[in-house]
Amino acid sequence: MTLEKKLGAVRRDASVSITQQLVEVFAEAIEAGELEPGAKLPPTRALAEMAGINQLTASRCYRRLAERGLVVAGVGRGTFVRTSAVAVRQAPPTGGGSWQTYVLPPERDGYGSRMIADLVDHVARADLIPMSAGYLSEAVLPVEEVRDYAGAVLRDAAAEALQYSPVEGVTALREELAELGRRRGLTDPADGIVVTTGARQGLTLAARAILRPGHQVACESPTFMGIIETLRGTGAEVFGIPVDEGGLDVDALEQLLRRHEIRLLVLQPRLHNPTGYDLAEPRRARLVELAAQHGFFILEDAVYGDLHFQDSHPPPLRAADADHVVYVDSLSKTISPGLRIGWVAASGPVLDRIVSEKRNDDAHSPSLTQMIAARLLGAGDYERRLPATREFHRVRRDALLAAIDEHMEDLATVLRPPGGGHVWMTLRQALDEQQLYREALEAGVSFIPGAAMLIERPRATHLRLSFSMLDPEQLAEGVRRLAGVVRSLQAARGRRRSMPVM
Ligand SMILES: Cc1ncc(COP(=O)(O)O)c(C=O)c1O
Repeated sequence: MTLEKKLGAVRRDASVSITQQLVEVFAEAIEAGELEPGAKLPPTRALAEMAGINQLTASRCYRRLAERGLVVAGVGRGTFVRTSAVAVRQAPPTGGGSWQTYVLPPERDGYGSRMIADLVDHVARADLIPMSAGYLSEAVLPVEEVRDYAGAVLRDAAAEALQYSPVEGVTALREELAELGRRRGLTDPADGIVVTTGARQGLTLAARAILRPGHQVACESPTFMGIIETLRGTGAEVFGIPVDEGGLDVDALEQLLRRHEIRLLVLQPRLHNPTGYDLAEPRRARLVELAAQHGFFILEDAVYGDLHFQDSHPPPLRAADADHVVYVDSLSKTISPGLRIGWVAASGPVLDRIVSEKRNDDAHSPSLTQMIAARLLGAGDYERRLPATREFHRVRRDALLAAIDEHMEDLATVLRPPGGGHVWMTLRQALDEQQLYREALEAGVSFIPGAAMLIERPRATHLRLSFSMLDPEQLAEGVRRLAGVVRSLQAARGRRRSMPVM
């Protein structure tokens, strides 16, 4: 039967609607190849005549075919069989998702993002010493306190805790965070603070508020993988600035400012992850001068700022220039990463932009955890716990450095961080970073490969080793395993080099 005849044979008394019958006739014709990809379907008026229906029903039929991915309509040109229509029709309705690969845009996940995914797996593996993960140890989590405060919140204010709350954050928490800021030398009022879901969301919202695709942004290199991923995610062009013992190399920044329209600089001026360095005093002053002179924002990531092992340490950079510096912080490195309590302090129009980004992103951070955190801060637990948490980290830093001195002194150099949770290592002899990573995992130890934390291609082999979550014995064993892997890769390389050239 020809297509025209089939279309004319639809029955009004059938249990299936006329539209559905017509859709099936076309779908079968497309699948059988009677209607080839690109073929034009009859105009709706012609279809109406052929099938003895009105034009509205004919249009509805074409709409259904388009919804099923079988045809496309070009305005004023008519309706055509899609090039991929046969594949769409023949795909099993509950297919394994492979079709998604062709529909989704190219993947955006970079090296850093994949490393963050990997490190979560490392922590779950019983056979591995996860020196890749900067988690807070269970031993310093405020388990009892949070149990009490959660109980109290649910007893006294359950309806509020289970309800929507203001986009900027629960007032009691913003007041506590403003108070915490004052103790650190900041002057932000509660309404200058936006609560975020971890510092990571604070970074993302601030970056989105300031940057558009094609803009130019700078950050330290190396830096936290999440910063690199966040900045690249905005579509901006990301420039890396080296870091040395004095923190960000401000001379290098000046060179960059001469050549590019930098709108934002992201940095960790205190206990930079991964090097552990602070931004030296003369550079702090120069940096805020440059921001004022060139008119760019500084996004200060302060998550490690309170984990200093020395008595004297620098105040937040925002204390020096609240107009240009947007401040991001969280409770993740000192109290609990799982609570996901982060915040941004900012002033001027950028604050409103960040609030809009937050509203459009997730409406607000969970009310319940904000209320728990407000009680914890209000009861003074943050300050009370900090000395023990710092000491816990100091003991582990010392254990890690001692193990490196013992097992790897001839293999690598390290920086001695004055706080934080990581050590940045550079191998004396460069190795294939990917091979080192794979073989270390086989040997039961993990690290973050340097290239995941750098903007530019590495010129040496770097490793970030994290000590915050592991016991001194585990750290010693991890370094011993790592040293074994480095030694065997170096020996294999030496053997290859000494092989006679044929
Ligand atoms: C420097 C730095 N900034 C931000 C974050 C993200 O913190 P949060 O867990 O609060 O999102 C991390 C996490 O490791 C970090 O190291």
